[in-house]
Amino acid sequence: MRNEDAPPAKGHLSRTIRALTSSLRAQLFAWVVLTLIGAICVNLYLSFRSADVTAKLVTDRMLLASARVIAEAVHVDPNGNVQLDIPPSALEMFDTGYGDRVFYQVVTAWGNLIAGYPGLPRPKRQQTGEDMTFRTDGMRLMMLDHPIVGLGQDSTISVTVAVTHHSQYAMRRRLWLSDFTKQLVLVLIAGLVTILGLQRGLSPVLRLRDAVRERGRERLDPLEPDMVQSELRPLVHALNDHMERVQNQMAAQRRFVSNAAHQLRTPLALISTQASVAARETDDRSRDEALAALRSSTRHVTRLASQLLTLSRAEPGSRRPRNDTIDLAETARQVLQILAEEALRRNIDLGLEADETPVHVEGDGTMLREMVVNLVDNALRYTQAGGRVTVGIGREGDTALLWVEDNGPGIPEAERTQVFERFYRIMGTEPEGSGLGLAIVREVVDGAGGSVALGDAADGGLVVRVRLPAV
Ligand SMILES: Nc1ncnc2c1ncn2[C@@H]1O[C@H](COP(=O)(O)OP(=O)(O)OP(=O)(O)O)[C@@H](O)[C@H]1O
Ligand SMILES: [Mg+2]
Repeated sequence: MRNEDAPPAKGHLSRTIRALTSSLRAQLFAWVVLTLIGAICVNLYLSFRSADVTAKLVTDRMLLASARVIAEAVHVDPNGNVQLDIPPSALEMFDTGYGDRVFYQVVTAWGNLIAGYPGLPRPKRQQTGEDMTFRTDGMRLMMLDHPIVGLGQDSTISVTVAVTHHSQYAMRRRLWLSDFTKQLVLVLIAGLVTILGLQRGLSPVLRLRDAVRERGRERLDPLEPDMVQSELRPLVHALNDHMERVQNQMAAQRRFVSNAAHQLRTPLALISTQASVAARETDDRSRDEALAALRSSTRHVTRLASQLLTLSRAEPGSRRPRNDTIDLAETARQVLQILAEEALRRNIDLGLEADETPVHVEGDGTMLREMVVNLVDNALRYTQAGGRVTVGIGREGDTALLWVEDNGPGIPEAERTQVFERFYRIMGTEPEGSGLGLAIVREVVDGAGGSVALGDAADGGLVVRVRLPAV
C-alpha cells in the first residue's frame, strides 16, 4: 500500500518543484528572500563584532581608570617604606550587578610585590586591554606603569587590574541585540517593500497572461502594448506581429480552400453534364465525342487535384523537412525524358544544357523534381508548336543555377509577380491549367532557401531562373 502511494507523492513533489522553478514570480521571490537571509547573516556578524569592540573599549577604560586610582594611592613615607591605601572606589566601579570579581597587583620595577595577587598574569604591553585566564576564570586585564617619587633609583611601579568577563559580555549582548534589532527591522522593511514592488511590477505581466489565455481560438486582434511596462512592450509588439502573421495566413488558407473548392466544382459539374450527355447519345460518333470530352475534363480535375496535393506538401510545416542531396542535372535529365513525348507531339525542340559534372543541392528531392516538372511543363504548354525549349543547369560559386528558356509568348512584366499567386492565370491563356504550377515552384524554392525570377529570353520568350544553395 505504501509502495503504491510513494511514486505519485514523488511525482507531485517534482511537479511542484518544476512549477516553482519555472515561475517567474517564485524565482524573483526566492532571490529576494535569499538576499534578505544573506543580509541578515552578515548583519548578525557585523553587529556582533561592533558590540564586542565597544564592550571591550568600555571595560578597558574602566580598568585604566581603576589602575590609575590604585597607582596614585601608592606613596613612600618619610622612612622610605612604600605605602598603599587603595580607595574603595577603585574596585567598586566594577560592581555593576553581574557578580564580577576584580583582581589587582602592584609591583616595583624590579619585580617586588607591593600588594595584590602574586600569581596574576601581566599583559605584554601597558595601557592595552588583554583577555587572559587566571585561576580558570577568563578575564580582561590592563597594566599601567606609574612613576613614584622617592622610591630609589628606578622609581616606577606597575599596576595590573583584572576583571572577569560577566559585565563585559552582558554589555556586548545588550549592544548587539539593540543594534541587530534595529538593522533587522530595516532589512525586513526593505524586503517587504521589495516584495510589494515585485507584486506590483509583475501584475501587468500576469494581466497580459490572463488576456492571452482568455482569448478565444479565433481572436487574433492586437493586444494593447500600454498594458505592460515599457521594457515588456517589445514582447507585446512581437506577439502582435506574430498574431498578425497567423491572421494573414489563416485568411490566405480560407481563400485557398474556397478557391480550390470553386476550381473543383466547375469541372466536376461539367463532368456530370458530359456524362449525362454521353448516356443520352444514341449515335456512336457523338457518344465517342462526348466521352472524349468527359475524359479531358477528368484529366483536368485529376491534374488540379494532384497540383493541390503537391502545393499542400510544398508548404512549410506540412512534411517533415527532408535533406536529400540531389543532382539537379540528373533530375532535369529525368524530367526531360518524361516530357520528351509531349515535346515530340507538339514538335518542340526540347534541349538540355548541362555539363557532366553533377550540381548538388540539398532539399526535398520529390519537391525539387516537382518544381522542375512544373517549369518545363509550362514552357512546353505555352510555347507554340514548332517552338524551342531549353533547360540549363550550371553552378556559380556556391549557387546552383537552373534556367528554363522558351521562345513562346513570355509573361508581361506587370504580371510577373502575380503569376506566382495561387490560381492566377494570365487572361486569355488558351491551354488548360489550374494556375498552381508557379505557386508550387515558389514554395519549393523558398523551402530550399533559394530564389526564382522571371525574365525575357533572347528571342522573345520567357526565361525562368532558379538559384539554390549548392552543396
Ligand atoms: N513559359 C511560359 N510562357 C508564357 N506564359 C507562362 C509560362 N509559364 C507560365 N505562364 C503563365 O503564367 C500562368 C501561371 O502559370 P502556372 O504554372 O502557375 O499555372 P498554370 O500553368 O496555368 O496551371 P498548372 O501549372 O497549375 O496546371 C499561366 O496560366 C500562364 O498564363
Ligand atoms: Mg503550369
